[in-house]
Amino acid sequence: MDSPERPHLEAWLRYADDLGLGPFYLDRAPQSTPDVGPFSDSRAAESVPAPVSSAATAPSIAAVAPRRAPEPPIPQKPTAASAFTPQVSGPSLFEERIENDSLARILDDIGPNCTRCKLHKARTHIVFGVGSPKAQLVFVGEGPGHDEDVQGEPFVGRAGKLLTQMIEAMGLRRQDVYICNVVKCRPPENRLPERDEIATCSPYLLRQLGVIQPKVICCLGACSAQTLLNTNQGISRYRGEWFDFHGSKLIATYHPAYLLRNPPTKSEVWKDLQKVMAVLGLEPPRKSKSS
Ligand code: URA
Repeated sequence: MDSPERPHLEAWLRYADDLGLGPFYLDRAPQSTPDVGPFSDSRAAESVPAPVSSAATAPSIAAVAPRRAPEPPIPQKPTAASAFTPQVSGPSLFEERIENDSLARILDDIGPNCTRCKLHKARTHIVFGVGSPKAQLVFVGEGPGHDEDVQGEPFVGRAGKLLTQMIEAMGLRRQDVYICNVVKCRPPENRLPERDEIATCSPYLLRQLGVIQPKVICCLGACSAQTLLNTNQGISRYRGEWFDFHGSKLIATYHPAYLLRNPPTKSEVWKDLQKVMAVLGLEPPRKSKSS
């Protein structure tokens, strides 16, 4: 018999099976904690992106969108090993605050034939973002890959399918969240976006986040985490920790492409997603009596 929880449960069990972990809600100890290097997510474990740490690229959503009523500050508890301090309130990327900004306006400002950075040369489509403009949860990836470039939608390839599974395991659907990337055009050969490309394109990401003002931003991989936290520190230093990002709660986790290459790491990501679920008040699907 179908219950409203059933699609939830099935997606969640599929994800659990895929991990070989069984039911997550039993809170089993992870099977293993792999040694995750600082730039080991996404496409090229060896190629380290240029640090995104200069004042010129420091993000400021506050400058481009009206702020929500501030929430209680999130205690920043860096681990003893990391002592990581993000800098999320640097100078604005924008000369002037944009009143009444909207996703449509941002898309319009980018324009259909953007040539602001060299990524335009090889792209097929600008991949702006997809999902609910009122989403409480925004996933931010790195940049479109081949499938995304062809289809014009973020996270539709193999990594995207895993992201969809993760979203469904949280009891949500893709259309309930918003999904976008740091750069909107595909880096050739799936290389990491370069510093100048991130600097050129990230203002649009910041405006997207400023318009949506989600409760939670989940950075997928080092590129988005480093861009939004304005750091060149490796993601494993601060993955799973909460940060305040201009009124939104920000958490970084590993990129789904990294999970495809390192399946045991999925258990770490699931822990991060459970933290997100707790903040959003999402219950993990209850175990059915028959299973
Ligand atoms: N990887 C990303 O970071 N973004 C996509 O949209 C697809 C793959």
